[in-house]
Amino acid sequence: KKFMEDCAEVPQDKKLIDFNRVLYPSVLCSEETFKALESFEAREDDLMLVSYPKCGTNWSVNLLNDIVKAVCNKDPSPIIPILEFGAPDKFEKLNQEPSPRVLATHLHYDNIPQRFFDKKLKMMVVFRNPKDTAVSYFHFYNNNPVLPKYSSWDTFFEDFMSGNVCWGSYFDHALAWNKHIDDEGVLIMTFEEMKEDLKAAVKKISKFFGLSLNEEQTQEVAGKGTFTAMKEKMTETRKDFAKIFLRKGEVGDWKNHFSEAQSQEIDAKFEACLAGTKLGEMLKY
Ligand code: A3P
Repeated sequence: KKFMEDCAEVPQDKKLIDFNRVLYPSVLCSEETFKALESFEAREDDLMLVSYPKCGTNWSVNLLNDIVKAVCNKDPSPIIPILEFGAPDKFEKLNQEPSPRVLATHLHYDNIPQRFFDKKLKMMVVFRNPKDTAVSYFHFYNNNPVLPKYSSWDTFFEDFMSGNVCWGSYFDHALAWNKHIDDEGVLIMTFEEMKEDLKAAVKKISKFFGLSLNEEQTQEVAGKGTFTAMKEKMTETRKDFAKIFLRKGEVGDWKNHFSEAQSQEIDAKFEACLAGTKLGEMLKY
């Protein structure tokens, strides 16, 4: 609570920092932590989640934690899983964590330190159709005191399209991962796929990480991973977070926000970047 209150005190024009020409939230990210991440030792058996913001990060991290709990009886770490968040001393704490650890990042493919790839740890990458991602991001900016507020959807849309938002352009992230979609140790999932059949998604994810669940465990993890179940659980401890992180959890909310012109603009960009590609096919909306 105190942290959120402190964030609210940060002036609007000081909420973001620019690091290597990409914006990040200043209260969560620092140059020191980015530097420390460069020498952080990933482990081969880490479960890593990579996502562009608002594509289903917390949902996926929850699923991974529940899979680890079911198979290895290990409780989720108290350390915030997003690697670039927090003070650099978090890495010393992460070094003390027993395996398997659940790690996450919003960093662009090119900004994930090479040592992660050298370790050959498995990465689940979650994407969501760009329209719902943009709408979710807009509300997140306006509801989360960590980020500056937008006066209108239209101004946010412009920044989303030009990549002038935290972690940069959605399309840059998608283009980069599209090149690595068939790499060993990479599993691309979509928000829409998880929404359509969560049980099948849990099965696929757990198998990919070599932590296969039996039928009963799959059912249990999927049951705990529904929007309603997650919202109820989070509301018990952090009602304010539940409101910020679990807004609607639906596919197609973009229809309530996009003008016809905006819809055409993003469709054209999507076509130009991803038409005919594997990721493009997965993300068709
Ligand atoms: P909405 O804003 O559209 O509701 P992230 O965790 O990457 O920030 O993504 C947040 C988005 O994922 C939010 O989308 C949130 O509601 C949605 N979400 C989180 N958990 C979910 C779940 N269990 N089922 C469906 N959507 C979920």
